[in-house]
Amino acid sequence: MEKNKEDKLSNLNFDKFRALARDNSLSMYEKIGFYDKFREGKEKVIFEDILTKLKNLSGNGKTVIDIGCGCSELPVMLIELCRIKGHHLILIDSKEMLDQLPDAEFITKMPAQYPKDCEELFKNFSGKADAILIYSVLHYIVEEINLMEFLDKTMSLLSDKGEILIGDIPNVSKRNRFFSSKSGIEFHQQNNNTEDLPEVKFNSLENNQIDDAMLFFILARCRNSGFDSYLCQQDASLPMANRRDDILIVKP
Ligand SMILES: C[S@@+](CC[C@H](N)C(=O)[O-])C[C@H]1O[C@@H](n2cnc3c(N)ncnc32)[C@H](O)[C@@H]1O
Repeated sequence: MEKNKEDKLSNLNFDKFRALARDNSLSMYEKIGFYDKFREGKEKVIFEDILTKLKNLSGNGKTVIDIGCGCSELPVMLIELCRIKGHHLILIDSKEMLDQLPDAEFITKMPAQYPKDCEELFKNFSGKADAILIYSVLHYIVEEINLMEFLDKTMSLLSDKGEILIGDIPNVSKRNRFFSSKSGIEFHQQNNNTEDLPEVKFNSLENNQIDDAMLFFILARCRNSGFDSYLCQQDASLPMANRRDDILIVKP
């Protein structure tokens, strides 16, 4: 891997993503922090998996919010679905990311770091969102803001029967379980063309990494706030299904 690119795609945060979005030497997948091999040709199955969980997207005339939408094919597929279904779509990300996406009368672009710069969103859309997508973003958001504040504010946006999908959460506990298993070792050896064993760490400090405990906390926090919550598996065809989890939150 090219060293310069490795530097660009590591230690990402909101401001580094802005710089990636402006960098036209990068592919659309690299602009959102992924090496091409993780997204190229795979975003359609990711979108289909999202549709199995966010059922309200299949209705008509809904209010949909995509937080940290990025600029690859995934938000474009969501835009097309919203056009067909007559949804109002609110896209939240940096201006640099949003500028890469098309405009349309049913789209509201909110250039903002969520939730801290989103007063207008909370003022106008409290209790009104039918579907909220936060895909491959939680691990960046929790580095910036208290997890409880993020959860409580996001739940406050939901309408009755509204849904939030916090998807593609890297779970270090799941990763460790996978890479300690026979199939995980084979996966590592085939993908890296090596006889070495994957590195797995149990009972050690995993600085700033999301683990099972954090996911179970999210589930409990939502349930205790009057929302249903579920830990969901990704379809096995998704590029990181062996080490990522999804959480679905539903207002009864
Ligand atoms: C890994 S990309 C995922 C993009 C898209 N959701 C997808 O899965 O294709 C993370 C995105 O979240 C955005 N992001 C990170 N922190 C954010 C925040 N606090 N508020 C809004 N967007 C954020 C980044 O700018 C970037 O576009």
